[in-house]
Amino acid sequence: MAREINTVGVVGFGTMGAGIVEVLARTGLTVKVVEVDAAGVERGLGHLEHSTARAVKREKLTEDEKAAIHGRVTTSLDLKSLDGCDLVIEAVPENVELKASILKELDGILAPEAIIASNTSSLSITEIGVHTRRPGKVVGMHFFNPTQVLKLVEVVRTVVTEPDVITDVVAFAERLGKSPVVIGDRAGFIANALLFPYLNHAVKMLESKYATREDLDAAMRYGCGYPMGPLALLDLIGLDTAYEILDTMYHQSRNRLHSPAPLLKQMITAGLLGRKSGRGFYTYD
Ligand code: CAA
Repeated sequence: MAREINTVGVVGFGTMGAGIVEVLARTGLTVKVVEVDAAGVERGLGHLEHSTARAVKREKLTEDEKAAIHGRVTTSLDLKSLDGCDLVIEAVPENVELKASILKELDGILAPEAIIASNTSSLSITEIGVHTRRPGKVVGMHFFNPTQVLKLVEVVRTVVTEPDVITDVVAFAERLGKSPVVIGDRAGFIANALLFPYLNHAVKMLESKYATREDLDAAMRYGCGYPMGPLALLDLIGLDTAYEILDTMYHQSRNRLHSPAPLLKQMITAGLLGRKSGRGFYTYD
């Protein structure tokens, strides 16, 4: 029988961290979230407020339910505050050294049976997990943006992840209302391995002036029924995040389909990161 996971911690309160926190709190769980500084906490609470206020406006939540969700979330700047958690999900930026150091520290704080999950989209769970004394209890738990809406969670197992841990995490993801899939530890897992060569190709088509941004996006929306075109989706994901994912996949595979389009790098250098910076392929208010 799957073990119940009741106390959950999240490390990182950025776009993904805030989405994960909201999903957990909406399920009725008490969530402890840790950020590196007060500005990070403010930004995360801002994401949470924006998203829940939008749900109230759309009559998906009442003001009381919104208040209850916020009431279940506590914030801290200290990883030690996560000491009683059954599960901690790390959702910090895609940097292997940073993730490894956080997992190492968590390993010293959490009870030996606690599970540590990483929301990484392309880094190796095996490589991050070996920095702990519990690599058998380290898994990937990869959510999709917007986390509140998209049902997929990729549960990533390494060669040493204990089978019971996978069973527990799959059951937990289902409890959150998600549709988990289980996958081995390879850059891009399932969804990004299929999605990112396509997104990259769209940027290369734009770069070579093969078609306009509007026509590229319209083709995939109206011809293939995708909810968003590839360039609008890149703006949602964040161009910097997309670049890091492609670069990691390219270094692992050496497949030229993963080699990031030069235009992506130029736009990032110019500060055009997509929705989060107000401008990417499109401009946002
Ligand atoms: N945060 C919270 N909720 C959001 C949201 C956001 N950023 N954006 C939309 N929503 C909610 C809306 O409130 C609405 O909820 P209700 O139905 O409960 O009212 C619902 O989503 C639909 O929104 P809209 O009607 O405004 O717009 P839409 O129908 O066009 O859907 C979308 C918007 C959900 C973003 C949809 O266009 C979509 O699914 N796009 C594709 C997104 C995608 O492919 N994401 C994966 C990116 S890859 C990734 O995340 C992995 C990685 O590692 C980078």
